Amino acid sequence: MDSPVLQAIYQRRSIREYTDQPVQADQLREIIRAGIWAPSGLNNQPWRFVTITAPDIRKLISKQTHYAHIVEASQALIAVYLDKNAMYDDVKDHQAAGACIQNMLLAAETIGLGAVWLGQILKNKKKVNDILGLDEHYDLMAVLALGYPLHRKQKSNRKNLNEFILKSF
Ligand SMILES: Cc1cc2nc3c(=O)[nH]c(=O)nc-3n(C[C@H](O)[C@H](O)[C@H](O)COP(=O)(O)O)c2cc1C
Repeated sequence: MDSPVLQAIYQRRSIREYTDQPVQADQLREIIRAGIWAPSGLNNQPWRFVTITAPDIRKLISKQTHYAHIVEASQALIAVYLDKNAMYDDVKDHQAAGACIQNMLLAAETIGLGAVWLGQILKNKKKVNDILGLDEHYDLMAVLALGYPLHRKQKSNRKNLNEFILKSF
């Protein structure tokens, strides 16, 4: 596999266990930079981010998800938002957020960090906004938990490619 992009796509796994090595601010910025280079409809770039390394805030955020243990084990969080004031089309802006988040996961992978996309926390997105001091025109899309992987033994699988292809003309 020669392509570094394909290599990152196939090697990336959701990482939920981390060492206690801190994640640096410039690493978080690089991950966000990769996120903002995702495509968006009309190039409207509706995404916004909050980076969190402060232990007290991470603790508060951890209480908003069933996956508290992952948040607590991680060294940094990035909350990914859509700015409702910057949106122009509900479906397309949400698609752009997904592309942005995937870019961020791949960037984390290529700089040696591990990350997991936390979606279950969205059930408490109002409380997350309250903790972060954000009003409701910022709509939480995901929280990424980040850190150096404790190990790389994660396994995942996908169904056979042929199961997804409806037709080939
Ligand atoms: C929209 C979305 C929400 C997710 N929410 C969670 C979550 O709340 N907790 C968690 O541990 N993993 C979460 N994941 C990660 C998935 O469980 C994971 O991507 C999937 O099992 C495939 O594993 P892989 O990423 O290692 O290939 C989420 C992934 C997506 C795309």
